[in-house]
Amino acid sequence: MAMSTLLLLAVATAALYVLRRVFPPSRSYPRARGVSLPAFLEFDRDPHKFLSYAYQSLGPLFWLDLILIRPVFALSLDANNLFYTSAEKDLSFNQATIDVTQHILTREQVFAARLNHLLLPGISGKSRLVSYGPGMIDWTWDFAEQWANESLSDPDGGLDLFQCISQLVTSICLGCFVGDAFAREHGIEVAALLRSFEVDISRPVLRILPSWFPHPLFRRIAATRARWNALIKSEIDARKADPEATRSRNDYLQYLVNEDKFQHEEEYAGIILGITFGALVNTTMTLSWALVHILKDSDLRKELLQEIDGSGLATSLEPHSTAEELAGGIAGIQRLPLLDSVLKEVMRYYSGLALVRYTMRPTMVDGHVIPKDTYVFVSPWLTNHSPALFDGPDTFRGDRFMGINYDRADTGKTASSKDGCKDGRLSDGFRPWGGGPHRCIGEKFALQALKTTLFLLLARYDPVAHGDARGVREAVPEWSKLVGTPECKGRVGWQLKRRSPS
Ligand code: HEM
Ligand SMILES: *[C@@H]1O[C@H](CO)[C@@H](O)[C@H](O)[C@H]1NC(C)=O
Ligand SMILES: *[C@@H]1O[C@H](CO)[C@@H](O)[C@H](O)[C@H]1NC(C)=O
Repeated sequence: MAMSTLLLLAVATAALYVLRRVFPPSRSYPRARGVSLPAFLEFDRDPHKFLSYAYQSLGPLFWLDLILIRPVFALSLDANNLFYTSAEKDLSFNQATIDVTQHILTREQVFAARLNHLLLPGISGKSRLVSYGPGMIDWTWDFAEQWANESLSDPDGGLDLFQCISQLVTSICLGCFVGDAFAREHGIEVAALLRSFEVDISRPVLRILPSWFPHPLFRRIAATRARWNALIKSEIDARKADPEATRSRNDYLQYLVNEDKFQHEEEYAGIILGITFGALVNTTMTLSWALVHILKDSDLRKELLQEIDGSGLATSLEPHSTAEELAGGIAGIQRLPLLDSVLKEVMRYYSGLALVRYTMRPTMVDGHVIPKDTYVFVSPWLTNHSPALFDGPDTFRGDRFMGINYDRADTGKTASSKDGCKDGRLSDGFRPWGGGPHRCIGEKFALQALKTTLFLLLARYDPVAHGDARGVREAVPEWSKLVGTPECKGRVGWQLKRRSPS
């Protein structure tokens, strides 16, 4: 940490301490134990280690004592269910999101995005998904051919798996959200912009300093935001200048423009930024981790290949296939049981560390009253690694979900098989897409992209670990980010070879 940041932290902490002495908080907290400021710094450095330790030594309910604020961690299954199903007026997703993203999105942008009833139908509607299909396939062909060419020259260390997949997913998402031309022209810049947002907003100073504070971080965030808004604005201006030529484009931005519900470019920019931001990271990491396990485990790869080759679906995904053939092929891919199970297991094994809400009124959690205006966290990762819910939770088993009739976690349906999960309780605990009012709207989109790309990479190519496969063997999650599917510590080298036609 830079010296100036340390100094600011010290000054801010002292000021908060004095404030707290003058205005002592008159709130009641659960009687579970709290964790002090030094522990918070540990939390910031290694949240995974901290959470596991705190859970073991303090139990399922504890809070962080940050002098003015006291975020509560509620890690029991009951708390988990309450968290997802609560209404805005009790446990607020919006308020927490506004606080967490206050330096990137304005309040209006958060609400434009949240109140946008066009989100689910525009991203995951049936006909919309069909129209997104060809772009997903084309981008995968383009990148895979490029990787296969690059692999022939066998660069030092191979290709960087997570970087390759990040480029592919960025192109697919930007192509679907803003159009292929935009993805081609601005993909690299946008990936860097989003990356800098992500690094910047996870800096601890942001949680302590007010946004008017003259810190270089705020200036950089403001500049990044301005650049993003300008990119989207120029895209919208171009379309509004020539509505006839652009009306029939099938990207999500055009869908919004055609619906004509928003007045300001800022609203469009906020919506597109909101979905792109999260969609890219979660989808990239899920696909990359799936490939890590396929590179590592030759049995898993063999079984997947059997399923994929046996399905006969590859023939409908040729570059010259008709729209109907493509749609049929993609629909068939969605139903391959092992491919589905592997992705579920990736989302179980590599789930986000924490999700957050904000109490709008005193709220009973696990028999304790959590005061109003408190951040409440649950931990998908801890839940998904709980021995009470899964057999051998710390072992990755690609076929764990085979034969389990799991559809939507929040419909309350129980699992039809116990293999790999306990007592049919899968429906309570396993929520890779969240649940209740804020359940992921991108599930179908993400699954279509994940399954289609994985299918193509295995049906037409042979992904292999580079060299002695050390990168693959030593790949472990990097937990510096609190929210979302974790990244990888270290570099995973790989190569993509073309499969000889059989
Ligand atoms: C593997 C990929 C993905 C995973 C694991 C994932 C997971 C999740 C989870 C767990 C939530 C609930 C968060 C909470 O309750 O606090 C969520 C919400 C959300 N997701 Fe996803 N997601 C993925 C991909 C996507 C994609 C591709 C999009 C957009 C195209 C998307 C858009 C959203 C949005 C907009 C919300 C917030 C919904 C709301 O505000 O009510 N997600 N996602
Ligand atoms: C890969 O190499 C082949 C043969 O040299 C070439 O025709 C093709 O254009 C290359 N593809 C990409 C994406 O670089
Ligand atoms: C990514 O996943 C995390 C939970 O793991 C969730 O909080 C976030 O909303 C997701 N982002 C999107 C856009 O789905």
